[in-house]
Amino acid sequence: MTSLNRQRVLVVGGSSGIGLAVAEQAAQAGANVTIASRSAAKLEQSATRFGGNVTTHPLDTADDVGIEDFFAKHEPWDHIVISAAQTASGPIKKLPLNDAKSAMESKFWGAYRVAKVARIVDRGSLTFISGYLGERPNAASVLQGAINAALDALARGLALELSPTRVNTVSPGLIDTPLWSKMEPQAKDAMFGRAAAMLPAKTVGHPSDVANAVLYLMTTPFATGSTVRVDGGGVIA
Ligand SMILES: NC(=O)c1ccc[n+]([C@@H]2O[C@H](COP(=O)([O-])OP(=O)(O)OC[C@H]3O[C@@H](n4cnc5c(N)ncnc54)[C@H](OP(=O)(O)O)[C@@H]3O)[C@@H](O)[C@H]2O)c1
Repeated sequence: MTSLNRQRVLVVGGSSGIGLAVAEQAAQAGANVTIASRSAAKLEQSATRFGGNVTTHPLDTADDVGIEDFFAKHEPWDHIVISAAQTASGPIKKLPLNDAKSAMESKFWGAYRVAKVARIVDRGSLTFISGYLGERPNAASVLQGAINAALDALARGLALELSPTRVNTVSPGLIDTPLWSKMEPQAKDAMFGRAAAMLPAKTVGHPSDVANAVLYLMTTPFATGSTVRVDGGGVIA
């Protein structure tokens, strides 16, 4: 296991949820962490949790020029994690095609765009966050499954193309993050309760569960081309 002490870690989508948990754990492990996302206000708010021990940078994964400019201006990173996404969901018969394309644009092409121009040191790492629907489809979220499976495949291919940089995916199940904050609290609690009852782990996940797996991938020199499930057993249930 390698140390993250003084390593340069970039978390794209680091202002919230899973990305924020990754950033916090990396900072606790001694890394010099930068969190990036679209909203400067959200970044500043999240930075208060680090006691000054984090750098923030507004960045939109949809912005080709902005992404190229960002990586050109920074030294190569030791580790990059891409947790950024905003995706509409629903059965494909009901989801407007433009919303479906926007979802793919945000989660898949956003990660692809970063991977294309990112500069990462040899034996550093790039980690995507996909999702268990990529392996275990749900009739109400078919598109999410397709996007996640595409990301898992992208990581396996890039692990060959970008070698010796290591490329992996963490595939979460249902995780209690601000992603779900648009739901009515009662409806959310009921949905989480039903999900927990069906899962072998008997609980929904927390962002720190996923962050544990990301840190494992960052610090394990033999881990590349992997998809690590952190899904409470969702794929096998
Ligand atoms: N939570 C779950 O149950 C769950 C399950 C499976 C997979 N996942 C996946 O895990 C990843 C993280 O989800 P989360 O639950 O942590 O969601 P979240 O709390 O909503 O965080 C999403 C992050 O992405 C950033 N973001 C969104 N669009 C962006 C863009 N175009 N460019 C840059 N940053 C962008 C957001 O910040 P700004 O608004 O400031 O841009 C925010 O920091 C997503 O890919 C999600 O699909 C989540």
